[in-house]
Amino acid sequence: MTSRGPLGRPVNVAVLGATGSIGQQTLDVIDRNPARLRLFGLTEGRRSAKRTAEYLIQGQAGEADFDTRVEAMVTDPRCDLVVVAIPGARALAPTLHALKAGKEVALATKEVLVMAGALVMKAAGQRGIRPVDSEHSAIWQCLWGESRDSVRRLILTASGGPFWAHPDLDLDQVTLEEALNHPRWSMGPKVTIDSATLMNKGLEVIEAHHLFDVALERISVVIHPQSVVHSMVEFVDGSLKAQLGRPDMRLPISVALGYPDRLADAVPPTVVEELDALDFHSLDEERFPSVGLAREAALKGGGRPAVLNAANEEAVNAFLLGAIPFSGIVQAVERALHAFPGTGDSLEEILEADRWAREYVKVKSGRLKT
Ligand SMILES: NC(=O)c1ccc[n+]([C@@H]2O[C@H](COP(=O)([O-])OP(=O)(O)OC[C@H]3O[C@@H](n4cnc5c(N)ncnc54)[C@H](OP(=O)(O)O)[C@@H]3O)[C@@H](O)[C@H]2O)c1
Repeated sequence: MTSRGPLGRPVNVAVLGATGSIGQQTLDVIDRNPARLRLFGLTEGRRSAKRTAEYLIQGQAGEADFDTRVEAMVTDPRCDLVVVAIPGARALAPTLHALKAGKEVALATKEVLVMAGALVMKAAGQRGIRPVDSEHSAIWQCLWGESRDSVRRLILTASGGPFWAHPDLDLDQVTLEEALNHPRWSMGPKVTIDSATLMNKGLEVIEAHHLFDVALERISVVIHPQSVVHSMVEFVDGSLKAQLGRPDMRLPISVALGYPDRLADAVPPTVVEELDALDFHSLDEERFPSVGLAREAALKGGGRPAVLNAANEEAVNAFLLGAIPFSGIVQAVERALHAFPGTGDSLEEILEADRWAREYVKVKSGRLKT
């Protein structure tokens, strides 16, 4: 039986986005570890999580009542850990509230670190943030017990999404159904489209830069179609550490919720004797320019990472609604980045950059009239 953990009682967990892909898997991890974890509260959007807890908050981020109740939940003295799994920029405010109240945060929503990484990591302080993204969980695990001075390079693996293995495919012509058909992972629509454009990997490079305080030029991306190696760290002595496992998000969720212990039987073991060949390929940055765009935005800084993130969110929405073609997503992000006039990186300037980029993409995609 799993021990009661460091608090000597179950950890009170609040789940933001409990009806989603990460949220549902988080509830599963909590249910399977009752001695260790307790569902304290949750948010649900249009669907119902069909659960009972001290806080059951239904609605949309941005609605005053929803936002006030979420703040009350994540700052409640009885709440120990907040799982952030509402996609996009709307997860920034509750993440900052939780961190400023001294809570542990398990973060699935990478967009929060992309748009405001420096502010968020400052609010986290020495405690840091527990990553839920499988790649960042892998790197986090590889770094346990290691000195940061020993790190030469972080290597993020990417499945490549549904189109990487088809170099002759015209990305102007691919359908929504094809883009949503991820070869390895079953996820929500936004992150699935981000995987197909490889913008997901661009966002992850920025996320890793902030989470682990490693310079952007020391973060690489390799295509690994089998999604068995979740990511790697190269050290100064030439060692390479990797974390392997099934493509099942309940593993990184369990690592984040159970830290510093491991929760038994989170997923079935990976049987090495049964593994097929593991392939690694360089990223074709010409065909998939998203990673380069993300690096450029993060290097130039200011509000640009927020523009990258918001322009991408709006462009993905436009694609999901049939307003632009698949190839139009990355083009819209690139145009927004090049047109963006701002410079600063205070919270107000970041929020303004976010607002500016959304309007820019909506107008350009014909979804908003000037
Ligand atoms: N899924 C994965 O495997 C995976 C892996 C790595 C990282 N992530 C990241 O984790 C985050 C969540 O992804 P997901 O795949 O779990 O998304 P998802 O399946 O679309 O679920 C999103 C959750 O957030 C809620 N939500 C959406 N919009 C909201 C709004 N405006 N206000 C309040 N709640 C809202 C949804 O509620 P309703 O559905 O009830 O409306 C749902 O509970 C994303 O940032 C993604 O990049 C996901």
